[in-house]
Amino acid sequence: MRKTIVAGNWKMNASKESVNKLVLGILSGMGNVSSEVVVCAPFPYLSQVEALITHSQIKLGAQNLNLNMSGAFTGEVSAKMIKDFGAQHVIVGHSERRSLYGETNIMVAEKVKAALDNDLIPLFCVGETLEQREAGETESVVDAQINTVVELVGIEAFLNIIVAYEPVWAIGTGVTASPEQAQAVHAFIRQLLANKDNGVAQQTPILYGGSMNATNANELIACADIDGGLIGGASLKPEDFLQICRVG
Ligand code: 13P
Repeated sequence: MRKTIVAGNWKMNASKESVNKLVLGILSGMGNVSSEVVVCAPFPYLSQVEALITHSQIKLGAQNLNLNMSGAFTGEVSAKMIKDFGAQHVIVGHSERRSLYGETNIMVAEKVKAALDNDLIPLFCVGETLEQREAGETESVVDAQINTVVELVGIEAFLNIIVAYEPVWAIGTGVTASPEQAQAVHAFIRQLLANKDNGVAQQTPILYGGSMNATNANELIACADIDGGLIGGASLKPEDFLQICRVG
């Protein structure tokens, strides 16, 4: 049985005050949550969140990393630094980084490797644009995104990777993939992995992301191959986020 994982991606939304309120709000409702819960904070707030979640079951993640360990990379943050603040997870290959910052499949694969090499669990994002979906390219796009990573790190590494299927057209739009649409792609991803190693495929968590909220989380997470959610907007509201966390 794969456990349910609910991860919040706060994106570039935070202040010292809002982080305090949000984390304390989530902490106060964790009593009846059995899902694994991760919050992915912007870099400057990792330390603050680390302190707030000490001794709780909430895990900390970052939203990006640089490939290199240290050196002359002005403005960048390494896996080692992320770990230094108690984070265990890092989002890699989010569609916003692919589209706004030019991250290619190979760059994403290299970041997945850098995370794994430093014992960080990558929340590795894949997904098609609306244009690609309408052109019937969903499977080939996702196939290329996944295979580039498999080729670099090997299938066994997926025992330490969380995959997140985030159709770009569903992110921040309020248009969620239907459970049928999401399940179809999740099953496709699991089959892709199973073609390399069925044992690994059965253990790899595959989360859905894209306008998941307190209302639709239930029916999405109920699907056979949907193992939880990567939540944007709704992760900024403690009650909504907690309701999703309670689904698992
Ligand atoms: P929304 O939940 O705001 O659509 O964002 C999803 C997402 O991009 C999570 O990484």
